[in-house]
Amino acid sequence: MNKGIFISLEGPDGAGKTSVLQALLPKLAAFDMELVTTREPGGVAIAEDIRSVILNPENTAMDDKTELLLYIAARRQHLKERILPALDGGKLLLVDRFIDSSVAYQGFGRGLDVKDINWLNDYATDGLVPDLTLYFDINVEEGLARIAKNRHHDVDRLDMETVDMHERVRQGYLSILEQDPERMVKVDASHPLEQVIEEAFSIISKRFFK
Ligand code: TMP
Repeated sequence: MNKGIFISLEGPDGAGKTSVLQALLPKLAAFDMELVTTREPGGVAIAEDIRSVILNPENTAMDDKTELLLYIAARRQHLKERILPALDGGKLLLVDRFIDSSVAYQGFGRGLDVKDINWLNDYATDGLVPDLTLYFDINVEEGLARIAKNRHHDVDRLDMETVDMHERVRQGYLSILEQDPERMVKVDASHPLEQVIEEAFSIISKRFFK
């Protein structure tokens, strides 16, 4: 039985979830729990190696199923080395992307069978599901415009995808939200950053610290 709290952050590219995560840390420090933050794909050395293979813009030959399996492999390693130890140690764990990214991107975005992805996610995580998932919703044009404006990194392979693909990803998230409204809570990420941070903080506080 896990003693910690597991929160994942999800959303289309450009929703700002990574900035929100950083801003949440000093606020969450008010609660008497040690914080751990991490990300997928990555978070531990082996999974970061897999991340660089997945996102390498030179890997244009990558097959969709290969891509899925790499995300799943990275997830398994990350689970064993980082997620489970944090939860067993009673930490408040915030993960930037988890199982829903595979459903939204590889399922709805790439068109792979969502049933297969659910099974692979389950296999990789031994059925572990976050206690709460914050879904940062933004329309595709706005998200892509933000990426172009705030670009801190070189173009990666996923940045090269079409607007249609990003639109399908968003629809994927909205569909998960409909199916799992207890676990996944939507945050309107088109609002000013301060407001988005406040809303995310309020959802977490009400759910776990009231
Ligand atoms: P990031 O930019 O949020 O770090 O994520 C890297 C990219 O990987 C992003 O475009 C979303 C994508 N991704 C998937 O397609 N499937 C997955 O399972 C995960 C975790 C991320």
